[in-house]
Amino acid sequence: MGLRQTEAKGVVGWIDQRLSIVDAYNTHLAQYWAPKNFNIWYFFGSLALLVLINQILTGIWLTMSYEPSAEGAFASVEYIMRDVEMGWVIRYMHSTGASAFFVVVYLHMLRGIMYGSYKKPRELIWIFGMAIYLILMAEAFMGYLLPWGQMSYWGAQVIVSLFGAIPVIGEDLAQWIRGDYLISGITLNRFFALHVIALPLVLAGLVVLHILALHEVGSNNPDGVEIKDTKDENGKPLDGIAFHPYYTVKDLVGLAVFLFVFCTVLFFFPEMGGYFIEYANFEPADPLKTPEHIAPVWYFTPFYAMLRAITFPMFGLDAKFWGVVVMGAAIAILFVLPWLDRSPVRSMRYKGNISKIMLALFIVAFVMLGVLGVLPPTPVRTMLAQLGTAMYFAFFLAMPWYTRWESTKAVPARVTG
Ligand code: HEM
Repeated sequence: MGLRQTEAKGVVGWIDQRLSIVDAYNTHLAQYWAPKNFNIWYFFGSLALLVLINQILTGIWLTMSYEPSAEGAFASVEYIMRDVEMGWVIRYMHSTGASAFFVVVYLHMLRGIMYGSYKKPRELIWIFGMAIYLILMAEAFMGYLLPWGQMSYWGAQVIVSLFGAIPVIGEDLAQWIRGDYLISGITLNRFFALHVIALPLVLAGLVVLHILALHEVGSNNPDGVEIKDTKDENGKPLDGIAFHPYYTVKDLVGLAVFLFVFCTVLFFFPEMGGYFIEYANFEPADPLKTPEHIAPVWYFTPFYAMLRAITFPMFGLDAKFWGVVVMGAAIAILFVLPWLDRSPVRSMRYKGNISKIMLALFIVAFVMLGVLGVLPPTPVRTMLAQLGTAMYFAFFLAMPWYTRWESTKAVPARVTG
């Protein structure tokens, strides 16, 4: 009859004859051998998935009452907050969720950097991850325009005008993005379309590819030891345990802890002192009134600080152009990280002291730039931002040297602990 052979019975058997769900279940869950030494840093992948689902669901409900027009957007958000049943929770779940997404993703990326998870054979997992990060930034940026508050408007005005710094095509490009000579209802309409459907679709597709790539080569672990190198007679890694039930249950613990923290923020500090929703955004957008101090939301500020750190023209091109170049390079360089790290070992546990110091300085630089990016610039702060930018790039650009020349510790044959 042309149906697949299966041992599964009942409805599952019927489906399995037509669509191979039992194999898929085994490959990705019951017989996906994950290293037994995952620590709390390994919670952030499943938490990122949880936050993604939260954003999609709350986003769908927000869209039911939101009006994507310059005339109606601000009032429709107020309507959601005051009149729509549970509207305030849904809106705050979405706005707090956006910040939570970046907290989780930054920690998830830091884990990858600490344990060398981007190194061969996991380069593609990292590249898909970086593509996710890029799309996530575009998604958050466009979402922030939608409430049509003062910061929505002026933040978008500043960022889109950055494209104008590109020689020759810049101004036309910025106009093409806005669909107008300045941010207007037309821009709001297209950002809405991209935020609500186009980018989430791309994001979901990339997450599937990210996890498929991970399951092709298998997870790394805090020791950076390849568990596939030591298998039992059945071909199961000796240091591997089934993802389901062991890690599905463990991930539930991470999820519970995360929900406690998330709900505390959601119910007690939803605007987080102006860091998650800036206070100026409770005023409707006014194209004739520029706010005194324009700063992006916290998750963009490290890059914004790098943009502002470039205060001098070079090679006949103005400072703004070089600022944009530096900001773009700061993200682009992360894509090639797998090829910058020449260390014979993966995990920071076995790398030398130079790698450890460089990573510590990189974290300090990133946080410092993040803080500087929310503050108005002063000469001292600009100098600090320049220092932070130099430290950020030094971590990557010097990596091929220090990872090759430093002495590393011996990596055990099997995972520890
Ligand atoms: C929507 C965002 C994301 C989701 C839902 C997601 C999901 C996941 C999941 C479920 C895992 C397996 C569990 C774990 O190892 O924690 C994972 C692993 C991984 N992710 Fe992501 N991820 C996201 C973003 C990123 C980003 C932005 C990067 C880096 C640029 C990244 C890099 C990695 C790497 C290198 C691994 C393998 C880690 C290892 O085996 O040690 N991911 N991701």
